[in-house]
Amino acid sequence: MKIIMLGAPGAGKGTQAKMIAEKYGIPHISTGDIFRANIKQGTPLGMEAKGFMDKGQLVPDILTVKILLDRVSDDDCKNGYVLDGFPRTIPQAEVLENALNEMGDKVDFAIDVDVPDENIVRRMGGRRACVTCGATYHIEHVPPKKEGICDKCGSELILRDDDKPETVKNRLAVYHEQTSPLKDFYNKKGILKTVDGTRDMMEVFGAITDILG
Ligand code: AP5
Ligand code: MG
Repeated sequence: MKIIMLGAPGAGKGTQAKMIAEKYGIPHISTGDIFRANIKQGTPLGMEAKGFMDKGQLVPDILTVKILLDRVSDDDCKNGYVLDGFPRTIPQAEVLENALNEMGDKVDFAIDVDVPDENIVRRMGGRRACVTCGATYHIEHVPPKKEGICDKCGSELILRDDDKPETVKNRLAVYHEQTSPLKDFYNKKGILKTVDGTRDMMEVFGAITDILG
């Protein structure tokens, strides 16, 4: 099963993708997590991506596409995967479609986690992310057991640089301009499914598993 998560920054794509990956036994692939891991390790890719991410802009397709295509050709992706944060532009969606076509394959579901902008800005300030394993928490909705420490790996939790209010506004603008046209793209292919992302996260997950079966 090949699944794409669509939705604004902070809509809950990552939260839902992790649960989907666990339930269906497929890898969760987040281009944002891959970039953050590279930034942390100080790789050339990370250095280049950081400049764009800190401003709330998209990393250029040319860098992003190669990373994603490399990752989905790994052995653990044979039975499918859930993509979180990719594609984010029409050209990215086309590259993925062409690559899958060549293997006689296709995306099965594009799930749009729908949350209005006003809710997003409130959510982001409360998010905390693990610097090591990428797990996310929310100071009100999903607090860690010990403040500031990741339950899963014991590392420090931080407010992401791009979760500052000014950058969140830029990310939302970029989302509306470059990423939301993907809803139409997948709707035309008959695989777009929309879930109300303002509900409790387990209710959102229930709506998604009803769709995936
Ligand atoms: P990325 O890491 O993908 O960030 P994003 O799309 O901005 O999304 P987020 O990770 O911020 O939000 P999310 O939807 O995963 O929400 P979450 O589950 O954490 O990308 C970062 C940057 O990398 C981009 O800006 C870009 O520069 C670059 N990039 C990445 N991919 C790229 C690509 N393909 N092309 C070009 N550039 C790319 O939830 C948010 C918070 O809300 C959490 O605290 C969570 O606990 C809480 N929450 C979740 N669900 C609920 C709920 N139902 N109720 C209440 N709270 C909830
Ligand atoms: Mg995320």
